[in-house]
Amino acid sequence: MPVLNYAAELQNQAAEWRRHLHRHPELLYDVQATADFIAGKLRQFGVDEVIEGIGRTGVVGLIHGRAGEGRTIGLRADMDALPIGEETGRPWASTIPGKMHACGHDGHMAMLLGAAKYLAETRNFRGRVAVIFQPAEEGGGGGKAMIEDGLMDRFSIAEVYGMHNFPGLPVGAFAIRPGPIMAATDEFRIVITGRGGHAAQPHKAIDPIMIGSQIVGALQMIVSRSADPVSALVVSVTEFHAGFAHNVIPSQAELGGTVRSFTPENRDLAEGRIRAIAEGLAAVHGAKAAVTYTRNYPPTVNHEGETRHAADAAITVAGVEAVDTDFAPWTAAEDFSYMLEARPGAFIILGNGDSAGLHNPDYDFNDEALPYGISYWVRLAEARLAA
Ligand code: NI
Repeated sequence: MPVLNYAAELQNQAAEWRRHLHRHPELLYDVQATADFIAGKLRQFGVDEVIEGIGRTGVVGLIHGRAGEGRTIGLRADMDALPIGEETGRPWASTIPGKMHACGHDGHMAMLLGAAKYLAETRNFRGRVAVIFQPAEEGGGGGKAMIEDGLMDRFSIAEVYGMHNFPGLPVGAFAIRPGPIMAATDEFRIVITGRGGHAAQPHKAIDPIMIGSQIVGALQMIVSRSADPVSALVVSVTEFHAGFAHNVIPSQAELGGTVRSFTPENRDLAEGRIRAIAEGLAAVHGAKAAVTYTRNYPPTVNHEGETRHAADAAITVAGVEAVDTDFAPWTAAEDFSYMLEARPGAFIILGNGDSAGLHNPDYDFNDEALPYGISYWVRLAEARLAA
């Protein structure tokens, strides 16, 4: 079965919403005008309950099925734009200098609004659909903030699903995989304190540059000797700051870098080994290493059963040929990961066609993808809440 007829009819309207949102991008948690627009539309569609201010500026709409009480499933879109100056030249380009929807969250909102409109009109399911609009996906942890504000418990959400557009994947195609689909992106900083001194008398100093160099080398052993070779892990030292003169051994050196991991195990492994290697090597030489390891978003890990449900819904909409169920993990991060830590669910990729890349000033969400995303949400909700 192809795209819903109704979703095809809805495309123009959803494109208008999308372009309105695109003209008025807002950043992180400061998405009040966007949230007002969303809440207004949901009320206009007859969504039963519209709750604002969850996780500061998040919005949740609850739609009750007409087949009676039952479980609640969550469908999530993100609302925030990026601090990028738009260069698309489109008629609906951003009206706000230095801000644009360069990640397609405008399209994500329009698709979930379209699905909410359809589901509120038809209600062919048992239980409830929670449409979740979250702020601050781009680095602010808005998904986590909504969970901490009671999102899952307050609305008894049993399963949760997310979707992101993907440039380079044809319009009308979907991609998913069970297990890790997006990375955790952490950062670390190591400050090595030795003892400064005259470069001609190294025996009286404790050289943090030599120690730092050994630490850089030893950190390469985390991936090559500590991590399971069939699991992906990246540990990169990207900064090394030390010294100021050719004849002085400095007292401090500072290293910085990034860790990309796809499983909680590898993430814990990397953090633990970085600390042990830096502190241990420094101690061996009589220096001290202070390690700061900052965990940003966790890996986005799809649950097995829900991934199957998501893939089935996508196949219903796009056909089996257009759904890749073995998508190669993507090294970017996504804060839907927090929702998948809180509840079973799955994150799916939707084709945006041959567009500029995400976070690029020439990027634009492809309105041709709207009916596919709307149909996917509707089919998924109806299947998971079959009357
Ligand atoms: Ni995004």
